[in-house]
Amino acid sequence: MTTAPVLCGLGTWLPPRAVSNEDLTTELDTSDEWIRSRTGIGVRHIADPGTATSDLAVEAGRRALKSAGVEKVDAVVLATTTPDQPCPATAPLVAAQLGLGQVPAFDVGAVCTGFLYATTAASGLIALGSARTVLVIGSDVYSRILDPTDRSTRVIFGDGAGAVVLRAGEPDEPGALGRAQLGSDGTGADLVSIRSGGSREPLRAENAAEADPYFRMNGKSVFRNAVERMADTSRAVAQEAGWAVDDIDHLVAHQANLRILRAVADRLKLPHERCPVHLDRVGNTAAASLPLALADAVESGRLRPGDRTVLTAFGGGLTWGACALRWPEIHPY
Ligand code: ACO
Repeated sequence: MTTAPVLCGLGTWLPPRAVSNEDLTTELDTSDEWIRSRTGIGVRHIADPGTATSDLAVEAGRRALKSAGVEKVDAVVLATTTPDQPCPATAPLVAAQLGLGQVPAFDVGAVCTGFLYATTAASGLIALGSARTVLVIGSDVYSRILDPTDRSTRVIFGDGAGAVVLRAGEPDEPGALGRAQLGSDGTGADLVSIRSGGSREPLRAENAAEADPYFRMNGKSVFRNAVERMADTSRAVAQEAGWAVDDIDHLVAHQANLRILRAVADRLKLPHERCPVHLDRVGNTAAASLPLALADAVESGRLRPGDRTVLTAFGGGLTWGACALRWPEIHPY
């Protein structure tokens, strides 16, 4: 029998400080009405100064291990756009802090699609026999890379982390991940980017005046791309699972914008209720968005064992992807 990666644990962590739309109006020219009507977001959680991506990742990872009922895994894969520092990767630090020993640990950079890319990399380790169990974490502290004066991004993003444990199992058991559909289009790299601080334009004292160290997004162009890509890859993975689109019980999509979630559902002719919404309480949490939305859907009683579930995401790169599974019996922490 072929080995399949099976989801067997789920954990999440949000920094405790909640920032409402009203709170943001004291610093930015915006309003609760604009933010709610254009994005669906009401509140986001923001990490306190000194709290880094690894701190959130360790909390979510610990909870995912508890949920899976394991203390050790064979590898750690961390999706993030906001590593603790440019070098080294954040995953080895997280593995060490979780007491996981000298297991392979590496970061994956695919912006808001990072969690799906990381899950697929972990699935590859399992398929190769390099690992029997893998901890996959999505963790981001976007508040650290946003321009404090940019209302178009400040209102959207929140900080957070989510993690799953994958184990080697069988393709027909609940939790088995189907083959992911992933894609990228680097011709759209400028649509979601941080210009300065990399090898092309390093940040130096002498170029500080012209540098732009902040995250920038062309929201309008990204919007259209996000809807098409998430809908099309979701349809493809459903088909591969042997499901009609209408068989999908839950389309758990990257929580970027409520209007995007609705548009993806409309393109697939799925009722809006089948696309769980979590962004109203956390904003766009980038690589953490999918596991956070999954945990919320389970905790609210909507996502139940056996449900036909499709995960899909879109992000900078541009990158996108989807993956299908029957939801397993797990208790998130
Ligand atoms: N408050 C009030 N007004 C605002 C705000 C704000 N917070 N932000 C922007 N505006 C203004 C703009 O200045 C503009 O004013 P103008 O017409 O006078 O120029 C107007 O509102 C409309 O701005 P748009 O950018 O056109 O607004 P839009 O309806 O497109 O919404 C948004 C912007 C929310 C960013 C939307 O485009 C979006 O969600 N895009 C997709 C984001 C996404 O999916 N990203 C990919 C994943 S994220 C990642 O990979 C990191």
